[in-house]
Amino acid sequence: MKIFKEIESLRTYLKQIRQPAGLIGFVPTMGALHAGHLALIAASHQECNYTVCSIYVNPTQFNNPADLAKYPNTLDQDIAMLEQAGCDVLFCPTHTEMYPHPDHIRFDFGLLDKTLEGEFRPGHFSGVALVVSKLLNIVRPDKAYFGQKDFQQYLIVSKLVADLNFNVQLRCMPIVREPDGLAMSSRNTRLTSAQRKRALVFYQSLQQARARLHAGVAFEVVKAEVKSICENQPEIKLEYLALADTANLSLLKNVTTQSILLIAGYVGEVRLIDNLILTE
Ligand code: PAF
Repeated sequence: MKIFKEIESLRTYLKQIRQPAGLIGFVPTMGALHAGHLALIAASHQECNYTVCSIYVNPTQFNNPADLAKYPNTLDQDIAMLEQAGCDVLFCPTHTEMYPHPDHIRFDFGLLDKTLEGEFRPGHFSGVALVVSKLLNIVRPDKAYFGQKDFQQYLIVSKLVADLNFNVQLRCMPIVREPDGLAMSSRNTRLTSAQRKRALVFYQSLQQARARLHAGVAFEVVKAEVKSICENQPEIKLEYLALADTANLSLLKNVTTQSILLIAGYVGEVRLIDNLILTE
C-alpha cells in the first residue's frame, strides 16, 4: 500500500494510475478503523480497480473540543488493517496540509443540517461538507463509500455532490454490528466493559420501537416508552429517538414506505448514534 501525506504527491501518483476504463473507489475515514470501515474497503475493492482510503481527524466537524481531543488515534494498527484488506493507497494528511489557511467557508443544507444531529452538534455538517469537498477534489474518485450508521451524513454528502456537480457515485453501505447488535463505531473503544453492555440499550430501543410501530402503536407513544426505558438505565442519556423520511429526514408521525428510526445518546461521556431503516 502506498502512503501519502501530501496532496501534490498523491495527485501525481493518482494521475499515473488513473485509466480510462479503470475505477477509483474512495473510503474517507477518521481512522480508529473497525469492521465497519473494512466493509467499505471490501465493497470498493470489489467494485473498483483501485481503492484509496483517507485517515484524517477533521477538526472543523467537531463542535465539542473535548470530543476532538479524545478521538482515538491508532494509525499503526489502521495501516496494518488496510494492508490486510488490500487497500491500494492511504492518504493521511497533516492539519496544515488540509487547512493551510483559516477556514471561512460555511455550508447551509436547510433543514437537513439543522435537524437531529444538526440540532445537537451545531456546525458539524458544515465541517463534514468542507472536508469531504476537499477530499473529493483531491482524490477525484469514481465511487465513494459511506456507512449507513451516519445516515444523516450520507444524505448531506449526497446533497453536496448533487448541488456542486461532483462527478462521483456515492454508495451507502449497511451498518456492521457486533454479534450482540451494537453498531460498530470508533467511539466504542472509549467505553468501559460495563458501559459497553449498557450501550446496547440504543439498538434494543430501535428494535423495540420497530416492533411496536409495526404493531400499530403511534410513534409518540413508542417514543415515550423508549424515553422511560433509557431514563431507568444508569449512565444513559437519550438525546433523541426520531421517525423520519429516508429522503430528507423530515419527521414522521407514522411509518411510511420510506421511513427510518434514528437514535442518539450518551453512555457516560461517550456519544453514540444508531438507526434502522424500516422499509427493508
Ligand atoms: O464519517 C467520517 O468518518 C467522517 O465524518 C468523514 C466522512 C471521514 C469526514 O471527516
